[in-house]
Amino acid sequence: MEYKCVDRGSSRCPCALMEAGQCYICTMSRTGHCSCGQHWQGVCPYNEFLQNGGRPAADLKEVEAPVLEVADYSRQLKVVRLQVPAGFAQKCQAAGSYIMVTSLGYKVPLSVLRSEVFCENGSGFIELAVQPAGPKTMELFRPGGDCWTVSGPFAAGLLNIEKLDFGKPVLVIGKGTAAAPFINIRSRLNGAVYIDSDKLTDAFLETYMGDREYEKISLQHNLEKLLPVIDRCPQIMFLASPYYTEKILQMRPERKSDIIIPNHANICCGVGICGACSYTDEDGVTVRRCKITERQL
Ligand code: FES
Repeated sequence: MEYKCVDRGSSRCPCALMEAGQCYICTMSRTGHCSCGQHWQGVCPYNEFLQNGGRPAADLKEVEAPVLEVADYSRQLKVVRLQVPAGFAQKCQAAGSYIMVTSLGYKVPLSVLRSEVFCENGSGFIELAVQPAGPKTMELFRPGGDCWTVSGPFAAGLLNIEKLDFGKPVLVIGKGTAAAPFINIRSRLNGAVYIDSDKLTDAFLETYMGDREYEKISLQHNLEKLLPVIDRCPQIMFLASPYYTEKILQMRPERKSDIIIPNHANICCGVGICGACSYTDEDGVTVRRCKITERQL
């Protein structure tokens, strides 16, 4: 069996999993035997690892990002704008991008809500929707917090995103701040949009949905009514809490491999080390969700 790694071939490859002999895509690291075959094209991560003296690629650097603005939409919803280098902002425009913010010594994964690049001065900004609900997120908004320590961006914020065809309509169902990955790429998507505005305010929706048409719904009361719409659409983004995601997958288990859903409920380090996002698949293999987006048989 083979696994697909979101960081393969990037500046983060080879990573700590190669060093631990657990790289999902390199059988050489796991078993000592290469199974890539003569038709393999591209960079060999094992060779990169050896050439790097048996060490993984340099860890992601943390960036000190000045806070440019905090918009208070409600007690439960703030949007922070951070100044970042242009290259960072540009990478954040990729579908499913999220970053890690350091708070109280822990990492907080946050989906990118909006990202812009200013070519003339080599800088840019990103915006993040934050619900200050616990010690880590509340700490971020303490007076004097005029710079956030961030790392990333990371690419595995959405499961099944590699199946998205931007040229075809996609049905989007989003609830609260979980809709952020859609808002980040909304100008590149077409198709019907349903938003459960739970914890979002009208002012937030006016700012981030602009003139994009959408219908307001309540997942709590109308999820079943959406099923016929879901059944008609080959491409779906369902962006809600793990509770509703589980619910929709139980109702439509056959869509598990194509429906695009959030992937960061349990993400903690984002780089395959802490194991917080691990799960054991049906073949008994423990995989890390922050690294693997798809399993191929
Ligand atoms: S979040 Fe730490 S291993 Fe995936």
